[in-house]
Amino acid sequence: MATQSIATMPRAERKPLGAFRLKDGSTLEDLIDYEHREVALRVLADPEIFDIEMDRIFARVWQVVAHESEVPNRGDFVTRYLGRDSVIVSRDRTGAIKVVLNACTHRGMRVCRTDAGNSNQHVCPYHGWTFDHSGRFLGSPLAAEQMHGSTREKSELGLRAARVEIFCGMVFATLDEDAPPLEQHLGHAAWYWKLMFDVADGGLEVIGAPQRFTIKTNWKCPGEQHAGDGYHVLTLHRSLLTLFRKGDSEGADLASGLNVNWNGHGLRCVDLQRGIDASTDLNTDTALERLRKRPPGGLSPAQIEKLPEMLTPEQLHVLAFHPPQVGGAFPHAGTFTTPAPLPDGTMSWKTAWHAFVPRAPGEIEFFNWHLVPKNATDKVREQMARASVMAFGISGFIETDDADTWPTMYESALGHFGAKGKLRYGALLGEKKPAGWPGPGHVHAGVSKDDNQWNWWMRWAEFMSGDPYGDKIHDKWVA
Ligand code: FES
Ligand SMILES: [Fe+2]
Repeated sequence: MATQSIATMPRAERKPLGAFRLKDGSTLEDLIDYEHREVALRVLADPEIFDIEMDRIFARVWQVVAHESEVPNRGDFVTRYLGRDSVIVSRDRTGAIKVVLNACTHRGMRVCRTDAGNSNQHVCPYHGWTFDHSGRFLGSPLAAEQMHGSTREKSELGLRAARVEIFCGMVFATLDEDAPPLEQHLGHAAWYWKLMFDVADGGLEVIGAPQRFTIKTNWKCPGEQHAGDGYHVLTLHRSLLTLFRKGDSEGADLASGLNVNWNGHGLRCVDLQRGIDASTDLNTDTALERLRKRPPGGLSPAQIEKLPEMLTPEQLHVLAFHPPQVGGAFPHAGTFTTPAPLPDGTMSWKTAWHAFVPRAPGEIEFFNWHLVPKNATDKVREQMARASVMAFGISGFIETDDADTWPTMYESALGHFGAKGKLRYGALLGEKKPAGWPGPGHVHAGVSKDDNQWNWWMRWAEFMSGDPYGDKIHDKWVA
């Protein structure tokens, strides 16, 4: 992906939607105090705001829906969501991945009722209208009777098709015909995500179906946190300090590193000089020597030797000394490639994508994809699967902490007085790129503060303003 082209790409030609006004007269400017960097807590619970988000964010933006290895064979499909719309993700006869709206054009029935399967075509269970993987209407029972009617051509009766693009094996889709290309949406964040998800020769694949579970919270609670809140780790995930930094009183080392953001996406690159691997000789190792000592993401020794062919020298350097490990893709995805200790003391890696799919103002469906290198040995595969389910998702010791926190933020926002509270992002580092830092994007080196999360909210505000491709709010209010 050519990163230098991102800044000069033409913005999508789209007429801004104009300002919104809630029933009580509030506007976007009443919800965000840019000077104090505060967001009204009511945005976490207000159903009117939720409806505007569905219209202005989720009807427009690229969203992650699946990993391509979930549908390896022609005819394979899974059902997912774009916003609150059910969609079918399938691999068609040509091998291409298609995403179509899972709502029958006859009377609105869900055409596909199962989570996953294999089928040459999608047949609606109600009256039998039949569609191909691209959504094209093929026909219906009693064809001679013209049961699809005489007022519409067959070509008008297809399922609405989404635009689809693949990035590092993850399937992204949008139902907005005018959205800019995915490359532009991801922007400079892609440079770092490639280090997390595109360094295994042969790519990654899912281990089983994604975990799916419901949490009673608003989608923005995990959304803004995954943009780069390293601060909460020191308190909420205190058990991590016990595992990684025995005896450290405050754990500032663990929150140190580089927060990087772009377009509301955010990620954290750890600082190995101060971090968990400070014992090895970082000053004299070359990048490749360093990677041989600490192979990332379950890579085999043979795969490590291929990295110089797959990455630029700059990317190799960042992967070796400041690896990006956690983050999030705007609006509602989480990204992870992190080391994890197993109960027997051995270190493994866990690689995962999350999506926090909004189902209602106070409900998300959490998707958790566990990933491993396709060419990993059975042992590495088993270790990564164990590390992943121990830390992440419904059984994970890290994410059960978070799942305890987010619902109470939502409940506070439901209260008469609580709703008048604020989400505060007053602590910024500002743009601090270390000398010689080779990576793109907005870089904030030091203890993880509010820079990435504030950037996330400014992207939210741009979408909510109805003009998401103008960068006007971001340019004015992001340090
Ligand atoms: S609703 Fe699908 S065939 Fe009638
Ligand atoms: Fe967390």
